[in-house]
Amino acid sequence: MIFSDRIQISPSVLSADFSDLAGEVASLERAGADLLHLDVMDGCFVPNMSFGFPVIEAIRKKTALPLDVHLMIERPERYLDRFAAAGADILTFHYEACEDPAAALKTVRSLGKAASLSVKPKTAIEAIFPFLPLCDMVLVMTVEPGFGGQSLIPETLDKVRALKAEIARQKLPVRIEVDGGIAAQTAPAAKQAGAQILVAGSAVFRAS
Ligand code: DX5
Ligand code: ZN
Repeated sequence: MIFSDRIQISPSVLSADFSDLAGEVASLERAGADLLHLDVMDGCFVPNMSFGFPVIEAIRKKTALPLDVHLMIERPERYLDRFAAAGADILTFHYEACEDPAAALKTVRSLGKAASLSVKPKTAIEAIFPFLPLCDMVLVMTVEPGFGGQSLIPETLDKVRALKAEIARQKLPVRIEVDGGIAAQTAPAAKQAGAQILVAGSAVFRAS
């Protein structure tokens, strides 16, 4: 099972020691991670590059935790089947990066994976309301995507509130994830706004 009714933590491997991913994944499991958040960056959609299929495949072999794959890539529809085959359980792609989000969400579901749409901080949350019936999760970016270690942009939590209200209005089972600047100090406000899945990179890996 991927989602549960309590708050779930999805540590972002972006802040891990890449020379010892197996060890890092094992320690995240011991620490009680619910999911593993894997940030894929293409150097086009965001001004940074991270990792792709081989790393996801390698992590898949090391853990039974659900893999929460966050695609920060242009035209993600080109690669959805390959990320599914690599071992993703949740496939999130960006509304801003995709010409036909409805078709891509349907593709993810047809691959047997949880489908998720994400919005950058400056994108109005209302833009994705028409797609909610096709989503299992929505990822509201709480920082500009591309880098770990930034501070949460407070206004993004207003979008979480508006999204939560719309999901209730449409009576849908869509989960809300937040990503960026989530730490012990900001998590309570994110939860109160309606976030159910909290991504945390630097807060997890910098902690003792
Ligand atoms: C940023 C990534 C995040 C990042 C979060 O573009 O999507 O998942 O790793 O890092 P922190 O928790 O340090 O803000
Ligand atoms: Zn992310």
